[in-house]
Amino acid sequence: MLFFVLIVLVSNVLSITKVVNIDLNSEKEVLLICLTKNKEDFVTWYKKNSKTKTFDELGFSETVIFPDLNSIQLKDVEKEDLGIYVCKDPLTEVTFTTFELVEKNITQVTKVTIEPPSPPLQWVLLPNSENTITNGRLHVFACRASGGKVNVEAFRLNKNGSIREKLRQGGVVLHNPSENDTGKYLCVANNSAASIKHEFNIFVIVHGGISEWSHWSLCNQNCGFGTQVRTRNCTNPKPANGGMPCSEESLQRRQCKSRSCSAPKLTKFGFDLTDDNNLKLDCFATGIPTPKILWKYDGDDLPKEYGSEETRLIIPKTKARSGEYSCTVENPAGYFTMYINVDL
Ligand SMILES: *[C@@H]1O[C@H](CO)[C@@H](O)[C@H](O)[C@H]1NC(C)=O
Ligand SMILES: *[C@@H]1O[C@H](CO)[C@@H](O)[C@H](O)[C@H]1NC(C)=O
Ligand SMILES: *[C@@H]1O[C@H](CO)[C@@H](O)[C@H](O)[C@H]1NC(C)=O
Ligand SMILES: *[C@@H]1O[C@H](CO)[C@@H](O)[C@H](O)[C@H]1NC(C)=O
Ligand SMILES: *[C@@H]1O[C@H](CO)[C@@H](O)[C@H](O)[C@H]1NC(C)=O
Repeated sequence: MLFFVLIVLVSNVLSITKVVNIDLNSEKEVLLICLTKNKEDFVTWYKKNSKTKTFDELGFSETVIFPDLNSIQLKDVEKEDLGIYVCKDPLTEVTFTTFELVEKNITQVTKVTIEPPSPPLQWVLLPNSENTITNGRLHVFACRASGGKVNVEAFRLNKNGSIREKLRQGGVVLHNPSENDTGKYLCVANNSAASIKHEFNIFVIVHGGISEWSHWSLCNQNCGFGTQVRTRNCTNPKPANGGMPCSEESLQRRQCKSRSCSAPKLTKFGFDLTDDNNLKLDCFATGIPTPKILWKYDGDDLPKEYGSEETRLIIPKTKARSGEYSCTVENPAGYFTMYINVDL
């Protein structure tokens, strides 16, 4: 039970209006004290509500009590008791005080779902802030936090600290890291109450790895025995960040033979068709590999104007061109020389 007591502070000022709020759910009684000049002044009370419109004089009832000369007490207040109450001087009909009894506007209380308070968020497992690892195996950098329903996420950062890539939940997992995995990383844990971060660096030392062998090269001789090679390189991966180079051999040779060689064999040597101006001298030979042909004139290189076409020599029919012509046929398996004397 709660009483509303309006304390008289101003005694000389008449016809005052007072608003009295009442919460009908919890308050049942209201005391209204008329603001008269003297406490002993006798007053009469009237009430009007929205239904009656006119003022009705109040008398004793079960719910309206006159505790003294100038006050009333309302008991078991209900909605229909709301309204305007006035106290007047019964002789002059001058209103001393007007009371507006209104229901207190209880603003809607928003429904709050009460979650159990989050336990404090804290890391229970974290990678070191500096980590040096090598390639070739699995590395796990786990981030774990306690604090109720916790969500832990991991990120790869750019050099400037901005987020480059979101990684899997719970930490950083690197299968056979490469030099590109060197850099900054971040773990973030949050629960409903807070968020915590941990930044760390990973430095990857990449030891070199040997590649597959290349195919064998072609035999370096096109007949008889030769060698061929194959290579492999330290590129799988290339050593980086101070990693070790490869120790395996990177070049292999082996003997090879594509076909047997055969020494030059003359198939034709002598004059072919002649015309009025020229002699045509042929020197044809076979062999593996195909033999080279070298013409000479009187034991020297041919003068330029002969216009030799390898297997056929064209000799102008002039006396000056008489002499000894030779054709040497050669390949790696052997050689021979044929001579002919020309008298023009
Ligand atoms: C109660 O308060 C609300 C919000 O302040 C307002 O919108 C509403 O009109 C008020 N009701 C009454 C009866 O005064
Ligand atoms: C940080 O670096 C990345 C790339 O390295 C770039 O895209 C980004 O704009 C940079 N952010 C800032 C704030 O400099
Ligand atoms: C590293 O990054 C460079 C540039 O993006 C790329 O060319 C290279 O292939 C990457 N290396 C590895 C092992 O992923
Ligand atoms: C925690 O972080 C995740 C991902 O960033 C986000 O979706 C979630 O809303 C966050 N939770 C809280 C309680 O902040
Ligand atoms: C190894 O490197 C050499 C020189 O760069 C190259 O010629 C060869 O093809 C490479 N071998 C392989 C197997 O990649």
